[in-house]
Amino acid sequence: MDQFLIKGSSRIAGEVTISGAKNAALPLLAAMILAKTPSTLHNVPLLQDVRTLIKLIAGMGIVIKKDQSTVICDTKTIDNFYAPYDLVKTMRASILVLGPLLARFGEAEVSLPGGCAIGSRPVDQHLKAFEAMGAIIKVENGYVKAQAPKGGRLIGCDYSFDMVTVGGTENVIMAAALAKGTTRLENCAREPEVVDLANMLVAMGAKISGIGTANMTIEGVDELYGCEYSVVADRIETGSYLAGALMTQGDVLTKSTSPLLLRPVLKKFEAMGATISSGDDWIRAQINKRPQPVDIRTQPHPGFPTDMQAQLMAICCLADGTSTIIENIFENRFMHVPELKRLGANIKVDGHTAIVKGVEKFTAAPVMATDLRASMSLVMAAAAAEGESLIDRIYHIDRGYEDVENKLRALGVHIERINPKK
Ligand code: UD1
Repeated sequence: MDQFLIKGSSRIAGEVTISGAKNAALPLLAAMILAKTPSTLHNVPLLQDVRTLIKLIAGMGIVIKKDQSTVICDTKTIDNFYAPYDLVKTMRASILVLGPLLARFGEAEVSLPGGCAIGSRPVDQHLKAFEAMGAIIKVENGYVKAQAPKGGRLIGCDYSFDMVTVGGTENVIMAAALAKGTTRLENCAREPEVVDLANMLVAMGAKISGIGTANMTIEGVDELYGCEYSVVADRIETGSYLAGALMTQGDVLTKSTSPLLLRPVLKKFEAMGATISSGDDWIRAQINKRPQPVDIRTQPHPGFPTDMQAQLMAICCLADGTSTIIENIFENRFMHVPELKRLGANIKVDGHTAIVKGVEKFTAAPVMATDLRASMSLVMAAAAAEGESLIDRIYHIDRGYEDVENKLRALGVHIERINPKK
């Protein structure tokens, strides 16, 4: 298993080009299943999760080709509607093929994703909405077996999500796009990645109103067609590199991104004492003193994103005072706390709340990446720490950050990938 060896005491400074968003690329790839004619997707990040989804789609007999950051998909040759456990278990977002398969072909068999490190993460909202559209859903032997109602087509419905769910909203709008009649959804997720998916569906011929709001109306159409589309920039990757500047009194310029995608994060960076400047497609964070403490509570968009919680916590660890961090989205998303403590952080956790007393510096230690986003907080903390840190289980980081070593090196981080078995 690969590890990162990081020589610390770096000042994170320089320019980095941001990739397409993993969390947008995955639903957009799944949406390609809906199109009768070939689709082309640009700005697709080269990541383990993207490879997994491509493998899953290819396993259905669909022709899918990736060349650099472009993916072309032709569904003409599809011969099964099956998503096996061995792929789904490695990536929960695989469940996103359920809506498109069910809507277009009237049937699907998709392994139920298991729990994951950050919580149990059920998919009941996805399934309830499909049932409201007339689908017959059975969960058997760890698989969701879904069948459209008589006639082979889902039926538009009125549905209100019990909680804001990104994946649930995405799955259901994809299904509703090809349903018979109109679907009115309440309490939809408003994340930029949901907006990106809705925009691509519209480019494929879907009729959707209320995009970017909690209430979306989808008038089902008979067929959708391939389109050419480009994945939105990764706001979490952007925020993660900018966070490095705040941890090391640095200066980071992120390019090919947009300040509109991460306003709540930029506001917190400013509250911590950073100077944030931006243009249409760039953001720069500069700071030349210890960060100030802040209070954060994660919320669905446009609140503070849970995927930036670990990175913000790592900055708070070095702040001049005490910060409070409340995690509202996932029940078990403080696993990075013991790892940050190994680097010298002073954090106390009580349920969903972490109290972080700032310390002057991190000191190097061997640490273990615990989940995708948390792993980036540890990399940045190790870059800031005094001494040499070894980070284990970095496969988490490869799932979500494209070309991470080169990007970090360009920002002045001394990082080396090692494989103890080689
Ligand atoms: C997506 C993102 C993930 C991010 C999360 C929250 C992708 C591939 N992943 O995950 O990076 O951390 O949004 O912004 O886009 N829930 C239920 N029942 C459901 C669905 C969700 O109880 O049917 C709960 C979850 O357990 C969680 C909360 O709702 O507590 C939010 O989950 P959701 O927004 O669905 O997250 P994902 O789409 O899985």
